[in-house]
Amino acid sequence: MTKIAIIGAGNVGGSLGARLASSGFAVKYGVRSDKGLDELLSRSKGATSGTPGEAAAWADVVFLAVPAAAAVGVASELAKALDGKVLVDCNNPLTWKEGPVWAPPPEGSLSLALAKAAPGAKVVKAFNTFGAEFHADPSLPHGAAADVFYAGDDADAKKAVAEIAAKAGFRAVDSGPLRNASVLENLAMLWIHLALAAGHGRTFTLVMQSREPK
Ligand SMILES: NC(=O)c1ccc[n+]([C@@H]2O[C@H](COP(=O)([O-])OP(=O)(O)OC[C@H]3O[C@@H](n4cnc5c(N)ncnc54)[C@H](OP(=O)(O)O)[C@@H]3O)[C@@H](O)[C@H]2O)c1
Repeated sequence: MTKIAIIGAGNVGGSLGARLASSGFAVKYGVRSDKGLDELLSRSKGATSGTPGEAAAWADVVFLAVPAAAAVGVASELAKALDGKVLVDCNNPLTWKEGPVWAPPPEGSLSLALAKAAPGAKVVKAFNTFGAEFHADPSLPHGAAADVFYAGDDADAKKAVAEIAAKAGFRAVDSGPLRNASVLENLAMLWIHLALAAGHGRTFTLVMQSREPK
């Protein structure tokens, strides 16, 4: 059974952790404090918790879902534990000016900065382009599922993330190399703008839809 650590048990981490746990994965939340975690653990089948370092050391795949401003620091602290592991970057660096403004670090995207901070980790950008309601439940009308666009440079790591997404009920869409993390971060800016600035609400997701039958 794939062991998945979720660093950060907030809106995204908690929703995704519960979804992955109920999809047959072994989940461990990596948290600074387990105060108030009982309710989340009770709806995350079989999940446990530990410090971020313990969770990262235990896992095969580590999801990072912390405030974007904290992400590089967390990755640096966990660099040793992340060595050789898949690191899934769900985070979006932004400021707010009547809507979201992409604010990447100097490396060009948050994912590239994480790859620098934890050089042994195989970073994959994914699960960042929709609201946490979809991390909890990716289902769409007519049996469709939310698209998880994912980008990375390591083929095995990308395959692992695509398999996790598919098993948890999402549709995984290969979005190219890690340099495209900047594109996915901007896709998130579009989602946030539409949802929160343009008033469409949080109940939609961006999908790749063909008019040709597959
Ligand atoms: N919310 C969304 O719909 C959404 C959608 C897509 C992507 N994202 C991205 O996902 C990330 C998380 O967003 P969120 O809405 O889930 O945030 P959130 O609800 O505020 O949760 C953040 C979590 O990170 C933890 N955390 C903060 N600093 C930490 C540190 N230094 N070390 C370890 N854990 C730390 C917090 O724990 P404490 O209780 O210890 O502070 C909290 O559990 C963000 O980067 C955001 O851009 C959000």
